[in-house]
This record gives sequence, C-alpha cells and structure tokens, in this order.
Amino acid sequence: MRPRLLLALAPNVALALLALWLGPDGTERGPAVLSIIGNFHILALHVPAALLLIVPLFEVWERHEEAAGVTVRRLSLISAVGTFGASFCGVLHAHFNGFAGEGVESHLWAGVTASFFAAGAWVVLGQARRIRLIAQGAAIAVMSLAAHVGGELVHDDGFPFRPNKAVRENRGVTKAPPSAPDDYRDVIQPILESHCVGCHGAKKVKGKLRMDSVEAMLKGGEEGPALVHGDLKKSVLFARITLDKDDDDLMPPAEESQLNAAQIEAIRLWIERKPIPATVAKEARVGARK
Ligand code: HEC
Repeated sequence: MRPRLLLALAPNVALALLALWLGPDGTERGPAVLSIIGNFHILALHVPAALLLIVPLFEVWERHEEAAGVTVRRLSLISAVGTFGASFCGVLHAHFNGFAGEGVESHLWAGVTASFFAAGAWVVLGQARRIRLIAQGAAIAVMSLAAHVGGELVHDDGFPFRPNKAVRENRGVTKAPPSAPDDYRDVIQPILESHCVGCHGAKKVKGKLRMDSVEAMLKGGEEGPALVHGDLKKSVLFARITLDKDDDDLMPPAEESQLNAAQIEAIRLWIERKPIPATVAKEARVGARK
C-alpha cells in the first residue's frame, strides 16, 4: 500500500475501533485525564470546521491544475489531523463523560466518517484539480452533517435552520390550537424536565432510563419499568422520589435540587390516574423551570 494511504487509513481505522470499544453508554467514569481530554472535543471541533472550508478556497485561488500548491497541502494536512483530533476527543467525551442515545451515536459515527473523508481529501492531493475539489467537497459535506447532528444535541431540533422561539411566534408560525388541560403536558412534564431529564434524557441516560416521554418511562431502565399506570408500588420512579433524605438511591440525588411536596403529590396523582387539583398544580409549577 502506498505510504500516504496507509498514513491516512491507519489512525482512522484505529479511531473507528476505539469508538466501537469505548461506546457511549451513559456512564460517567474516570480516569480524570481522559474525561478532561474528552471535554476538549468542544474546543477541538472548531479547527476542522474552519480549515476544511478554507482548503477549496485556496485551491480556487491558486489554480494549480496538476498538483496542489504548498499552502493547500499544508492546510489539507492540518485539517485532516484536526478532524481526527476532534473526533478522537469526541469518542472519549462520549464514553467517559456519560453520554448515550441515538443522537449521540449518529453524531459520533458522522464524526468518525468525517475524519476518514478529511484524510481522503489529503490522500488525493496528487490527483487532478477536479478530483481534489470533489474530495474536499465530500469532506465538507460529511463534516457539516456531523456538525448538524451535534448542534441538535446541544440546541433544539432543526438547529441551525430554525430561528429562536420569539421570532417563530411573531411570524405567526401556526401554533397548535389550545387544547384541553392535560396533566402530563402541563404539570408533570415540566417537573420531570427541570429535575430529571438532565440525567435521564437524550444526552445522558443514567441507569439506562430516559424520562423525556411517557413511552420511555413505561419501558424503564435497568430496574424495569419506571412507570406503571395505576400502580404506585411498581412504579420505580415514585419509589425513588419518596425515599428518606439520606438514602443513597433517592432521586434526584441528594446534591441536586429536590422535588417539593406538591410535585411529589402531583406525580402520585398522575400515576394513579387521578386529576391533579389546580392548587397542587400551581404549587408544583413553582419549582419547575418551564
Ligand atoms: C444528577 C443526575 C440525576 C438526576 C437529576 C436524576 N437522576 Fe435518577 N439516576 C441517576 C443515576 C446516576 C442513576 C443510576 C444509579 C441508581 O440506580 O441509583 C439513576 C437511576 C434512576 C432510576 C432507576 C433506573 C433503573 O431502572 O435502574 C430511577 C427510577 C430514577 N433515577 C428516577 C429519577 C427521577 C424521577 C428523577 C427526577 C425527579 C431523577 N431520577 C433525577 C442520576 C440522576
């Protein structure tokens, strides 16, 4: 195999194997140094984002038909190494800092693929200009896809092509017609969003349990269903929020902000499928963010 191809493939194959070996399983773990290198993903990802775009710009500027000029060669190498570095930190970030879920998996594999493509763009630098430009365009496309999925993880769905909420509402984007009060949507969901979903949602899936939809709670986690309609005893989530203050299994964990009495009462009534009185609902909403 040509040395250039080997040099491009070997680290990326190793990266893909690393991602398979250290998958995102929602558990936070040490050693500290790997957790910190993982955090650098957020910083490192800006390098390839900028450089991959600059390479074809210089190609057009320099107009070398046969072989890419020295600026293009250097930038292309740095962008390939940068994409690899960002993906490498990303694999560590996902594994050591407690990420999991479909969105995380897609982002991770799009990132690893982007690293292959960025290396590929470097490998074909000796080819005709058209082939170089196609390879560079492909690398940018895959990188953009990875960035888009990553953006959706951090921001809302539809990022970055969806303006903020205020703008959307002023423009009169059709809003759902006002529907009858719904205890889950109006009372329970805001409580769970503000106290539970940060650790039991798309980004972090502690105890393999997601709490961002009723279906997910019915499905449950390691200990089985978190929610069983009409059955408080079998609903693990209710057991966990009603433990003693010093019990290690208490949810949210003792160091987090705790549910107030009205919120626990609202959750109890909802599991028992009884209506939540307005006074309880009002008290329950005080502590919830949304
Ligand atoms: C700071 C992070 C954090 C927050 C916030 C949090 N949890 Fe947890 N939760 C965990 C961790 C870690 C585990 C796994 C260890 C364990 O089972 O105690 C867990 C496990 C659970 C389990 C057991 C899942 C299973 O099947 O093993 C339930 C039920 C649960 N949490 C409910 C809740 C509820 C309800 C809330 C909100 C009121 C909440 N959690 C908020 C971190 C959190």
